[in-house]
Amino acid sequence: MSENPTRRSQAWFGGTDKMGFFHRSGLKAMGVPDRMFDGRPVIGICNTWSQLAPCNAHLRDLAEYVARGVYEAGGLPLEFPVASLGETLMRPSTMMYRNLVSMDVEETIRANPLDGVVLLAGCDKTTPALLMGAASVDLPSIMLSGGPTLTGRRNGAQLPSGTGTYAMYDQVRAGTMSPEEFVGAEVCMWRSNGSCNTMGTASTMASLVEVMGLALTGNAAIPAVDARRRTLAHDTGRRAVEMVHENLTLSTVLVRRAVENAIRVNAAIGGSTNAVVHLLAVAGRVGIDLCLDDFDSIATGVPLLVDLVPSGKYLMEDFFDAGGIPVVINELGELLHRDALTVTGRTLGENVAGATGWGSPVIRTVDDPLRENAGIAVLRGNLAPDGAIIKPSAATAELLVHRGPAVVFEDIDDLHARIDDPELDVDADSVLVLKGAGPKGYPGMPEMGNLPIPAKLLRAGVTDMVRISDARMSGTAFGAVVLHVAPESAAGGPLALVRDGDLIQLDVPARRLHLEVDDTELARRRIDRGEQKTPEPGGYTQLYLQHVTQADTGADLDFLRGRRGSDVPRASH
Ligand code: FES
Repeated sequence: MSENPTRRSQAWFGGTDKMGFFHRSGLKAMGVPDRMFDGRPVIGICNTWSQLAPCNAHLRDLAEYVARGVYEAGGLPLEFPVASLGETLMRPSTMMYRNLVSMDVEETIRANPLDGVVLLAGCDKTTPALLMGAASVDLPSIMLSGGPTLTGRRNGAQLPSGTGTYAMYDQVRAGTMSPEEFVGAEVCMWRSNGSCNTMGTASTMASLVEVMGLALTGNAAIPAVDARRRTLAHDTGRRAVEMVHENLTLSTVLVRRAVENAIRVNAAIGGSTNAVVHLLAVAGRVGIDLCLDDFDSIATGVPLLVDLVPSGKYLMEDFFDAGGIPVVINELGELLHRDALTVTGRTLGENVAGATGWGSPVIRTVDDPLRENAGIAVLRGNLAPDGAIIKPSAATAELLVHRGPAVVFEDIDDLHARIDDPELDVDADSVLVLKGAGPKGYPGMPEMGNLPIPAKLLRAGVTDMVRISDARMSGTAFGAVVLHVAPESAAGGPLALVRDGDLIQLDVPARRLHLEVDDTELARRRIDRGEQKTPEPGGYTQLYLQHVTQADTGADLDFLRGRRGSDVPRASH
């Protein structure tokens, strides 16, 4: 029956026995003609479309264009849904469910007659979740991002997704914006489907996917509703079929050199701190030896080239108009591994040959960067023995070396209850500390790390303070914010022992985060605190609490690390 009996999908469709009948007849019930079972590549279109993930709400439309490309190249497309993760709606944190979705993706791919996969992602966690799941199976896989929403506008000014919310809410709390104006701005920020228009986590991950060679050129910046994204979808489907013919598996492309390129480009674009925890988790699925310190050392000397919010002032539509990621890759030149293989079957350098900017101020040159040394700084010290991170390009430069007394919030409820209390003993030199917001503590490591500046200080004109937590921070946020402190307070990290008034030293150039409390006192406080029991709430949350790793290793579930392959499971009947 088949010209390609060894193709994976032929384990389902190639037989003339009872099971072959079942498998073919099931698809024929959807109108699939018999000739489609001739051994052609079967391409899964893994879709995170959901009305609960508004940033991905156009992915049903894009899937149609992917399918056209698959048909054009002689394949059979089969679209399937996986759980989605919407940053704007989901509680307590999309991050808690990233690993769950990765399991959905992995098991659905392996359990079905697929030879290759197109991964449709958009909102922040959907990208790493799909990559992690697909990597653990390791079929030929290619990603298509949903693209950014149009530029937000309000009262003649641009309104950046996420970043604008934080800035306006601070104005409300400072009394300089009315609640009515604030609500009125809601319709101005996301003007179309698509992910945040800033260099937030979604745009960062879409950019890094393009740089790692896991998507076609142009993936990151074409706006969600631009016709060229449909063309990209069509070409992505077409290429997926070719990848199956070439047996170009995900792990052939996703190698350490590709991840090193991603780390360098993340610095050049002012990318999200969330890239750290996601790249660590993705790398762990294919066995790439990557550690937290690599994010600092590999990006050493990489300048900030892209002038986008939150590190700069433009938005993703401007970045697309300036030439996008291909121009950044060429501007970085030999700072990248240009010979890294990509899903096109060509190298990264070959993919972007001839891509030059037109002199747009959005993408600066290496000779005239926005900032000399960009990237993520990895901090260590007695407050973060396993590391913590800060994004210097998004912080006030004067606060990168700072010493001040701690103002401690035991958890997020404590913070909400007291942060705007006029009696709170805090000034601009204080260091705000939040506990209980790590992977286990919250649970799910939410984007609470950019603690609000106390209202009385906002009214006094304070715009940034040193803040420290075991939480993450939205890629659209900014400030002198130390994140991902490991071990987290709920796992017994020293962060749990900090008390009001303790002096804390932050020294980013020296990569140091130090609590000025001696070891004897810390040991005494640890005894006072006593043993902490892990809650047992049941369900997925319990599985998560028992198995989630700390931020410095990617916050994956320990039993999900590694590649389990694409062997065909036993038949079901
Ligand atoms: Fe979905 Fe920002 S909220 S990408």
